Amino acid sequence: MEPLIQLTDISKIYGSGEAQIHALDRVTLSIQRGEFAAIIGHSGSGKSTLMNLLGCLDFPTQGAYLLDGKAVSGLDDRRLSRIRNQQIGFIFQSFNLVPGLSAQENVELPLLYRGIPRAQRSALAARALERVGLSQRTSHLPGQLSGGQQQRVAIARAIAGSPPVLLADEPTGNLDSSAGQQIMELLCGLWRQGRTLILITHDPVVAQTAPRIIRIQDGKIVRDSAAI
Ligand SMILES: Nc1ncnc2c1ncn2[C@@H]1O[C@H](COP(=O)(O)OP(=O)(O)OP(=O)(O)O)[C@@H](O)[C@H]1O
Ligand SMILES: [Mg+2]
Repeated sequence: MEPLIQLTDISKIYGSGEAQIHALDRVTLSIQRGEFAAIIGHSGSGKSTLMNLLGCLDFPTQGAYLLDGKAVSGLDDRRLSRIRNQQIGFIFQSFNLVPGLSAQENVELPLLYRGIPRAQRSALAARALERVGLSQRTSHLPGQLSGGQQQRVAIARAIAGSPPVLLADEPTGNLDSSAGQQIMELLCGLWRQGRTLILITHDPVVAQTAPRIIRIQDGKIVRDSAAI
């Protein structure tokens, strides 16, 4: 079957001349629909750079990226942001919630950008908040929620529009171990329900929850447990 994600010879170079940094160096990687893969590596190895490319937040310097069979490497910003909005749910270390919006409004926001009508938006957001166990907190502002609860709002926001890919960059990085464990259980549950999950982490214990572990070092994939 055609992979959901196919990167071929992807490089990302920051800066120019003497100051050039090869943040990613000819990365080739495919991820199938329904997989749960952890991308692991030391600080500065290129994990966030890879996440930004996978999430269509940035462009590669060279190489090809096929998402669901479609080339995204050559698209303009407008098309790229539409693909991002429809195909990818993001979960960040620092939650990235809008402080002045309630949990419900934060979850509705990407659905609003997608042009989904109000009633449907509200129903989808309510369902996503229920899925993460926050039905009792929908009108709370982020500042009125614990870190773990804020991350659950962010997960609800990521899943509300049912994107095929969930991309999580150090989702437990700002949480204590018990809240972090709850977040990992939630993410694993979503994967078991059929979502494709890509988890970026420097924490080997967190990475062990994934059936596939991809190690990146100096911008190169140096080990992939799925590789033959
Ligand atoms: N916008 C940028 N401009 C220049 N260099 C950058 C930029 N972003 C990242 N880099 C460099 O690219 C390399 C990879 O960075 P990246 O942020 O992908 O690492 P990381 O694996 O996510 O690290 P961490 O675990 O600390 O988050 C590093 O050497 C970094 O300094
Ligand atoms: Mg990073």
